[in-house]
Amino acid sequence: MDITACEQWTSLESRASRKTVASLKELFVSEPGRTSAMSVEMEIDGQSMLIDASKQNVDKEVFCELAGLAATARVAEARDAMLSGAIVNTSEVQPALHTALRAPRGSKVVVNGVNVVDEVWAVRDEVTGFAHDVREGRYRGATGRIITDVVNIGIGGSDLGPALVYLALSTTGAPQVRVSFVSNVDPTNVTRVLGGLDPATTIVVVCSKSFSTAETLANARIAQRWLADALGGDAVAHHTVAVTVDASKVASSGIAAARVLKMWSWVGGRYSVSSAVNVCNAIAFGADSIDQFLGGMRAMDEHFAHEPFERNAPMILGVIGVWNRSLLGRGSHAIVPYADSLGLLPSYLQQLEMESNGKVVTRDGEVLSTESSPVIWGGVGTNAQHAFMQLLHQGTSVVPVTFIGVARAATAHHGEHAALVANMIAQSAALAFGSTHDDPARAMPGNRPSTTIVLSALTPGTLGALIALFEHVVFVQGCVWGINSFDQWGVELGKKLAHEVATELASGEPGASRDASSVQLQKWYLRHSSRA
Ligand code: F6P
Repeated sequence: MDITACEQWTSLESRASRKTVASLKELFVSEPGRTSAMSVEMEIDGQSMLIDASKQNVDKEVFCELAGLAATARVAEARDAMLSGAIVNTSEVQPALHTALRAPRGSKVVVNGVNVVDEVWAVRDEVTGFAHDVREGRYRGATGRIITDVVNIGIGGSDLGPALVYLALSTTGAPQVRVSFVSNVDPTNVTRVLGGLDPATTIVVVCSKSFSTAETLANARIAQRWLADALGGDAVAHHTVAVTVDASKVASSGIAAARVLKMWSWVGGRYSVSSAVNVCNAIAFGADSIDQFLGGMRAMDEHFAHEPFERNAPMILGVIGVWNRSLLGRGSHAIVPYADSLGLLPSYLQQLEMESNGKVVTRDGEVLSTESSPVIWGGVGTNAQHAFMQLLHQGTSVVPVTFIGVARAATAHHGEHAALVANMIAQSAALAFGSTHDDPARAMPGNRPSTTIVLSALTPGTLGALIALFEHVVFVQGCVWGINSFDQWGVELGKKLAHEVATELASGEPGASRDASSVQLQKWYLRHSSRA
């Protein structure tokens, strides 16, 4: 169905073009119950999360029509289908079952007659066992030394999720085993990381759902050579672990079958942080932390599955995202965590949302008649205030912001932590309400939208819930737009061309059908490269 043809869409479009929504300053006077009506508070494993969407340019009428829009788009039915294991990734004919990765032991999600929850728990137990063995010194390096470091080699979802979790959990407790991340095929990345490590005390985790990603395989080869040079070829398998769907591809890579942790084709790369890709963090922080992390994700899954629309945070944030992007034409969305520990959240959400919903056709193959995913970007506050917030306050484009803060200080510097949180609250108020001034250059227009999410403390559980919240927000938006949020065909052409150009560079001759600009770039590169 074309959602833009429905009654609610037409009405919302008319409200947007006639600018019927009063300013935030006016709405906070005329709608006294607005703050609680547009906020959701939830408990996660003894902690709380507050989601305050009251500073969005949404009045009661728009909110009501957005609820109607979600009903017309049958978002709740699509959610139930996704959670039950139905084929929601239609172009790849697969379910999208990241939620099964955090389902309780003994529960049931059946795919092709198999209860995938049993398989999930078998792998979770394997990860737990391996992590315990490494942490307790039962699994040592080939020369008998205790493992002090893990290198996670992966890219996209096989990197961004574990890296986000590692940085975040590092503030709540020092890792027992350090983790370094290698993602880019730029050899300076892997060289810098390995250069600081001792092969005898390092495990390399090669994380690749497909086990065919060129960047990851190239970096894995470099790391395996590094291990072999130092410890001998026979030691390589002992120091390497793979996380993948396709164990058959691992056989030729020098990784032992016993050291392959299974993923499933029904987990999208950008939804895989709840899978065995987190093995590095289980080793670093202990499997209990990862269980709590998955428990937090589960709490958000339950919330998404059962809360009515008006109290359902992913539903509310999802439809507000559609309102901002498609109806109000806001082309980008800034993610600004006021916590260094969440510094990788903007990059993580960039992949999650842009790879999921950055599409021009619906799941029925029709060209979308509205805008889909905004550009997701951002950076940590307060640094953001001294870099890009000027544009958000006074620039010609309106950029919705999601602020994320943490109430409990992670250090003993409570006064400075309060200053950090004060800055976040102040930024959202300044954006929303602005200020007047005789000099127009100093006036702040206000009426600029933001959502603020506050965690009582950053724990594995609240981190999991926060990530799952965004997973579901992206799903809701995809449903309204009619997009399949679980494929990513747009990345394939670049991969194919990179392979062709690499072959041409190796031969020294651009392909006959190559365009003039690419020919010039190839020749120029060859003249100036280290191979010249
Ligand atoms: O190219 C995009 C992508 O497929 C992402 O969706 C994925 O997270 C990343 O590459 C890495 O893929 P893999 O885990 O299969 O190596």
